[in-house]
Parts: sequence; structure tokens; C-alpha cells
Amino acid sequence: MSEAMLEIESHKGRYQVLLDDSPFVLDPSDVPAHYVVDRRVAELYPGPLQPVLQSDSVLLIDASEHAKSLERFPAYVDHLVERKLRRGHRMVAIGGGIVQDITCFLASTMLRGVPWEFYPTTLLAQADSCIGSKSSINSGKTKNILGTFTPPTRIRISMAVLDTLEDVDVRSGIGEMLKVHAIEDPAEFDKLAADYDRLTTDKAVLARYVRRSLEFKQKLIEIDEFDQGPRNVMNYGHSFGHAIEAVTDFGVPHGIAVTLGMDLANFFSWRRGIGAEAHYRRMSPALRKNYAGFERTPIDLDGLLGALSRDKKNTSTGVRVILPDGDGRIGIHHEVADDAFRAICGEFLAEARTA
Ligand SMILES: NC(=O)c1ccc[n+]([C@@H]2O[C@H](COP(=O)([O-])OP(=O)(O)OC[C@H]3O[C@@H](n4cnc5c(N)ncnc54)[C@H](O)[C@@H]3O)[C@@H](O)[C@H]2O)c1
Ligand SMILES: [Zn+2]
Repeated sequence: MSEAMLEIESHKGRYQVLLDDSPFVLDPSDVPAHYVVDRRVAELYPGPLQPVLQSDSVLLIDASEHAKSLERFPAYVDHLVERKLRRGHRMVAIGGGIVQDITCFLASTMLRGVPWEFYPTTLLAQADSCIGSKSSINSGKTKNILGTFTPPTRIRISMAVLDTLEDVDVRSGIGEMLKVHAIEDPAEFDKLAADYDRLTTDKAVLARYVRRSLEFKQKLIEIDEFDQGPRNVMNYGHSFGHAIEAVTDFGVPHGIAVTLGMDLANFFSWRRGIGAEAHYRRMSPALRKNYAGFERTPIDLDGLLGALSRDKKNTSTGVRVILPDGDGRIGIHHEVADDAFRAICGEFLAEARTA
């Protein structure tokens, strides 16, 4: 059974998010498809993916941050040129955020644009990244420095594929869900936090929160698809989170780094006199639960500050950070990365380790 979950407005027209009971429902089509598939997913689901894996054009990806580095792209382009990709064809991504970013970037640049479809297979991709049009790829040491705004023409979600995810990848997805709920309203965050344990034991509960997460994100991307203003708040937890990913050489999965980044943002906001201690303490228990096991990951303070100051969203006057105010409303702030800034980050890391 399939159900239309959402319909998103974009500069390329409307696209649907469909919810399917069974995984990898293929739409009948005469238009040749070029599949980009996460190798792990291909190995886990050989049955449902048989028609895909037997087709003429399949690119298997070992999902890692390195796979979405510019340096890897000549091989992907060669593959698609050899399989005779044409403008009238379509590309189909099957995997998580990594496969999404690779496919979206290729689809938006090859032949100046080929339509693409998406079957997200991680919780992070289903609850967050699948909508919003962005592709982000890495170059050298710089994460997500190249990208485009190119939405897929259709998204098909099946929660049946989430059972095979590693626990850290489930928590990585929950990290982005906690983020968008906090942005919508601190009370929505509290509801999700209260249901935290049920997310992994009750699929209906998880499905409800995935839908809510997408609905909250939809509001922001429809008013600001190109991230010029209101959508910026979606980067809550990300300035610090990306810096944590960079200094740990991606040893902390994206959504877990974002969870740590939110806790640090809340702590920082309180100590800088923008937010309130009560708000930090209100959110911290659920955030800590979600990054449990990663609080002792060595994070070099100089490296963290260096990575923060290289963030592509900074202005010339300071570091751009997304912070909650005293009531937990999320807004954009520009902060000078001075000694006091460094000291607060150090204090947080020490506190997180001992909790
Ligand atoms: N473009 C965007 O809007 C956007 C938004 C958020 C994040 N991202 C990017 O997405 C990436 C993270 O995405 P992700 O968390 O989905 O990670 P991912 O794509 O790396 O997948 C995580 C792991 O899960 C495995 N996997 C995927 N589906 C599986 C399944 N059904 N069962 C078992 N294993 C499975 C993968 O092989 C991989 O090892 C980051 O690079 C991040 O920057 C992009
Ligand atoms: Zn993210």
C-alpha cells in the first residue's frame, strides 16, 4: 500500500513524498533509469532490489564521507557517460544522505540537469534530508562546500528498511528530528523527548514523528527554498556539529554531531547571556541520551575553533551561530571567536564528559 504523505512546493514544481508499506516500489516508466545505490543496502535487500540490480546502469556506492568528495566524481561521471546518460533519462538514488548528495549533485550538473528520484533508506534521510532540494559534497578537507538546490521529482519512503540500520545511524536520524522539533517549538521538542524510547520500539510512533519532522521542515523550505533567511535556523546545532565532525575526522556521525552541537549551542547561549540555564537543562537530558557514547570522543579545542571559523556560513565580522533565546526560540547570532568563546566551549566539553 502507498499513501501520499506530503506534497512539497519547489522552484522545479511540486513533488510528492509517498509512504510505502513495502520497500523499493518501482513506478512503471519507459524513461531509462540510472540507479545510484548504497552497496550495503544492495547487499541487505537483494530480493526487493533485484530489478534494480539487474538493470543496465547501476552505480554502487560505499557510503562514507569520502564517497561524496569531489575527488571521486570523475569515476561517477565516467560511469554515467559509459551508460549513455541522456537529458531525457532519470537518475534514481537508493540509500541515505551520502547517496542522496552524490546523486543530487550529479543529476543537477550532468548535461546541465537530469531529473532524479529518491528512495531514502536511513532515518536521517527519511525524516530530514530527503526534502529541501540541497546537495552538498566535500572537496579536500572541506565538508559540504559544493552544492546545488535541485529537488527530486518523487520520494518514496518505506520504514520497513529501517530495521537493518545500526543503532548509531538510528540515533543520527533522531538527532535531526530533535533539531527540527526544537526549532518548531520547545513544547514539540518536549513531546518527542518524552516519546524517545518508543521511537525504537513502535514503528507507528516513529512514523508519526517522521511525518511531523517533514511537515515542520516543509514550512521553512517552502518560504525560503534557497536558504536566504528564515530557513537558516535549520542550521541549529550544525555550526558546532560540522566543526565536531571535522575535528574527529567524521568519527561522530552527522546527526549525533548535530545533537552534541545543539547541547553546546544551548550551553553557549546561556553562558553568553542570550539564552537561559533552564532551557539548556530542559533539553540536555534527551540530547545526552542521543549522543551517549560519543561524549568522550576526544575533541581538540583549537581544532574545533579553527573549524568553526572556516564555516561557509560565517560573515566577515564573526562566527555565525544559531542559538536559542531564553524561551528556546531559535535565532541567528554573530559571535566573535575570542578567548571567552573558546573557554565556554572548553567548559561544555568538560561538563559533557563528566555527566
Ligand atoms: N543534502 C541534504 O540536505 C543533507 C541534509 C542532512 C545531511 N546530509 C548529509 O547526509 C550524510 C549523512 O546521511 P546518513 O546519515 O543518511 O548517512 P549515510 O548515507 O552515510 O548512511 C549511514 C550508514 O547506513 C548505511 N545504510 C543506509 N541505509 C541502510 C539500511 N536501510 N540498512 C542498513 N544500513 C543502511 C550506509 O551504508 C551507511 O553505512 C552526511 O554526509 C550529511 O552531510 C545532507
Ligand atoms: Zn544535518
